[in-house]
Amino acid sequence: MNNHHTTLLFFLFLLSPSLILTTTHPNDLKILNDFKNNLDNPELLQWPKNNNDPCGPPSWKFIFCDGDRVSQIQTKNLNLSGTLPQNLNQLPQLFNLGLQNNKLHGPLPSLKGLSNLKYAYLDNNEFDTIPFDFFEGLSSLEILALDNNNLNVTSNGWQFPSSLMDSPQLKTLSCMTCNLAGVLPDFLGKMNSLSYLKLSGNSLSGEIPVSLNGSGLQTLWLNNQKGELLSGNIDVVATMVSLTSLWLHGNRFTGSIPENIGDLVSLKDLNLNGNELVGLVPKSLGDLELDNLDLNNNRFMGPIPNFKASKVSYSNNDFCLNQTGVSCSFEVMALLGFLGGLNYPSNLVDSWIGNNPCESWLGIKCNTDGKVSMINMQHFKLNGTLSPSVANLGSLAEIRLGGNNLNGVVPSNWTGLMKLNLLDLTDNNISPPMPVFSNGLKPMVDGNSLLNGGGSDSPSSGKNGTSGGSGNIGGDTHGHSNSSSSDSVETKQSKRKGLVLIVAPIAGVAAAAFLLIPLYVYCFRRTKDGFQAPSSLVVHPRDPSDSDSTVKIAIANGSVSTLTGSGNGSRNSSAIGDSHVIEAGNLVISVQVLRNVTKNFAPENELGRGGFGVVYKGELDDGTKIAVKRMEAGVITNKALDEFQAEIAVLSKVRHRHLVALIGYSIEGNERILVYEYMPQGALSQHLFHWKSFGLEPLSWKRRLNIALDVARGMEYLHTLAHQSFIHRDLKSSNILLADDFRAKVSDFGLVKLAPNGEKSVVTKLAGTFGYLAPEYAVTGKITTKVDVFSFGVVLMELLSGLMALDESRPEESQYLAAWFWDIKSDKKRLMAAIDPTLDINEETFESVSIIAELAGHCTAREPNQRPEMGHAVNVLAPLVEKWKPFDDDPDEYSGIDYSLPLNQMVKGWQEAEGKDTSYMDLEDSKSSIPARPTGFADSFTSADGR
Ligand SMILES: *[C@@H]1O[C@H](CO)[C@@H](O)[C@H](O)[C@H]1NC(C)=O
Ligand SMILES: *[C@@H]1O[C@H](CO)[C@@H](O)[C@H](O)[C@H]1NC(C)=O
Ligand SMILES: *[C@@H]1O[C@H](CO)[C@@H](O)[C@H](O)[C@H]1NC(C)=O
Ligand SMILES: *[C@@H]1O[C@H](CO)[C@@H](O)[C@H](O)[C@H]1NC(C)=O
Ligand SMILES: *[C@@H]1O[C@H](CO)[C@@H](O)[C@H](O)[C@H]1NC(C)=O
Repeated sequence: MNNHHTTLLFFLFLLSPSLILTTTHPNDLKILNDFKNNLDNPELLQWPKNNNDPCGPPSWKFIFCDGDRVSQIQTKNLNLSGTLPQNLNQLPQLFNLGLQNNKLHGPLPSLKGLSNLKYAYLDNNEFDTIPFDFFEGLSSLEILALDNNNLNVTSNGWQFPSSLMDSPQLKTLSCMTCNLAGVLPDFLGKMNSLSYLKLSGNSLSGEIPVSLNGSGLQTLWLNNQKGELLSGNIDVVATMVSLTSLWLHGNRFTGSIPENIGDLVSLKDLNLNGNELVGLVPKSLGDLELDNLDLNNNRFMGPIPNFKASKVSYSNNDFCLNQTGVSCSFEVMALLGFLGGLNYPSNLVDSWIGNNPCESWLGIKCNTDGKVSMINMQHFKLNGTLSPSVANLGSLAEIRLGGNNLNGVVPSNWTGLMKLNLLDLTDNNISPPMPVFSNGLKPMVDGNSLLNGGGSDSPSSGKNGTSGGSGNIGGDTHGHSNSSSSDSVETKQSKRKGLVLIVAPIAGVAAAAFLLIPLYVYCFRRTKDGFQAPSSLVVHPRDPSDSDSTVKIAIANGSVSTLTGSGNGSRNSSAIGDSHVIEAGNLVISVQVLRNVTKNFAPENELGRGGFGVVYKGELDDGTKIAVKRMEAGVITNKALDEFQAEIAVLSKVRHRHLVALIGYSIEGNERILVYEYMPQGALSQHLFHWKSFGLEPLSWKRRLNIALDVARGMEYLHTLAHQSFIHRDLKSSNILLADDFRAKVSDFGLVKLAPNGEKSVVTKLAGTFGYLAPEYAVTGKITTKVDVFSFGVVLMELLSGLMALDESRPEESQYLAAWFWDIKSDKKRLMAAIDPTLDINEETFESVSIIAELAGHCTAREPNQRPEMGHAVNVLAPLVEKWKPFDDDPDEYSGIDYSLPLNQMVKGWQEAEGKDTSYMDLEDSKSSIPARPTGFADSFTSADGR
């Protein structure tokens, strides 16, 4: 060894004693030492204390070198805890970084400039930030795994910077649950090497980028996003023909499965669970030989195809039948084609359940032969085109699609609809050419700007016939349309004219009482063409011509929808169990909406509590108030669910001015919520028994009479006028709610039972409230409508006396109001002494007090068959109330509800309808020249039930 060498060694020795005999590059050594020193548990590395040559030989454990430069760090699965040195990117030869499955935390160092790095596994650690320049210059990168790190939490997540494109060879990008947010960047579609893209469990939103069209991805996992979720259609996936695994579950994807999904011949695993996908499942999907196919929890319709997949599930969809490979009825298929042209609007999807369009499908009407006769969807906000499949519905007589946003042409094969006598397409955006119907049908096409030039094609159309959707009422003439001027003179005035009234007195009453008897008025109209188009129609339940089994509810704009309360549908499955699933079409309101309007069920919005849960006040955007009854998680028993279901079933079938209206309901997860009109004055019981503590005025006699009549009318309707006869079973003053004008509505339909036909009684489990229970019901559990009559009698006694039905603080003989009242009612003196002292009884009022007392006795007769019908109570009460005008007596009505409208518009429309659309009314009302005033429904109130 010569001097020269000795000098060098000496020099190095002086510089840094530890570097003597080292071959590893000193900078790499420093970084490894930094790495070790930043750890809380460096001993796990078992790196030698006195050996400063990681590259060796022998090399340090977990470290591999290329010459004197570190090329690999492989410390996976060591449970290392600590932070990483920020200068990790100064290992120029690093090509494999394997730090996965440790407990490394703090900021990820930038990897910027590591042009040799091929593999970077940083997944399953606890890193909390990722620098923006992390991806810059990673020109050799092939695999990057960042899964399960909580990156950039404080800044609400992060997005891939475009410098990711510096890695043209990137094959695997795995960042599941790594806190990605925002939309998927377009440039992913330009990364041609990308084969495995796994981004599950992030907070991604927006659509799958169209740039991924034709991408060579083999794995695409975008499932289970949080927050807004991914949305839009999934058409692009059908172009990714290399896919073997596609997971899109747990998002909000909409639209249908693309027909060309069958192109994905390599696909083995497809999961679409829990999206909002609609429409038919393409047969080509059934033919794919998948290992696993999950279609659960979407809104697929039509037939279930035969599947070649080894494992397949498809529950909780809207298939027409539940067997695979069985086709739906041709009518269903034709209508689904129609729906497809309109991009499957959700209100129709909600309603079109099963294999028979005549079972209350929204917008569909059938003739008595059970064939589809009408498509009636005016002002349904429909977008899209008209499907030629409609031509297969040979029984169609009318198609009413005015006031939508339909475009494209009228399919030429529609001219084959031989029975079609009305085609209303006014106020849309239909294009020419208009097919010529051989049967002389002239489509109504005013208000379609693209057809304007050809105005003469439609000489008999007219705004008069269709304006505002509520036209066509009362045989308007279809005059000639003077094309240009009619555009500016569009009148919305065509309200109901020419109502045809049919009077049907209740059978078996004396002629002398004729004028006092409620009469039922049907409204329908006839056009010149002679076809009947109901505009606001209620089919009388006893009308023998009523072949239909559902109550028809007039829609504000003149179209008619039918509703059924319950069904065997399978939507909205929940943790709670499918036997409690309910169908009531578009009464469904999302919990989120209700959260918004109740300020997230804020305590200050609480109106009251009951056995069911808590009732909150809510306010819609436009100020309309609603009452929101939310079942408490703790009380979600089968019984409570049955009541919840009963309430929806009943209230979606019956609508009456004196029954509290159900606006909607929510079933999501464990949430069970009912939404009612808001009744600002609360329960009758509050005004009768607790007025002092609530600081209220005691109710005057005339108010009490009005309330009694309102309740009688509501109950009468429930018993006999609704399509089916319902028994309330829990009528009591705390279930009678008052509006601002102190007009009353009966509420709480949770115990309602369908009455058996005729007078036969039905035995049920005892339910109701003591003090109001009819004796035969309490003893035998048998119910008829007469149990409600009994309860009504008790309410009358409460109105008279101001005493609660049952009060154990009273002397024993008067604890039970009904029994005591019977004792005293025939003794005028004792009766007068029992009258509520807040009432000022004079000569004039005494007469009506006596009549009410007698009615109360009659209603509470021991034997059910001695009690009157509710109609009798109405007859007794109505003339008493008549004396007590100025309370103007509004006609009883159905409300017209347009279920295609958003909640607040719906409520509005309903209010208007309540004022105008009279479906049946009492004779005295129909004679009255005073126009019905709109009710104060918007500012009306519901309290918690007092049960
Ligand atoms: C992550 O957050 C850090 C600190 O807030 C920020 O500097 C960085 O740019 C973010 N990363 C990305 C990729 O946006
Ligand atoms: C299929 O539907 C029929 C009638 O709707 C029903 O009786 C049967 O239980 C259903 N089968 C399954 C497997 O759901
Ligand atoms: C039709 O399109 C309009 C505007 O994009 C939208 O507001 C409306 O909800 C659509 N209608 C349906 C039934 O989807
Ligand atoms: C109308 O056209 C559609 C699509 O071309 C076709 O499927 C259907 O069978 C046709 N219907 C009639 C009655 O011509
Ligand atoms: C609409 O009706 C009015 C009065 O009924 C009539 O004068 C007018 O000509 C009609 N217009 C059209 C376009 O039919």
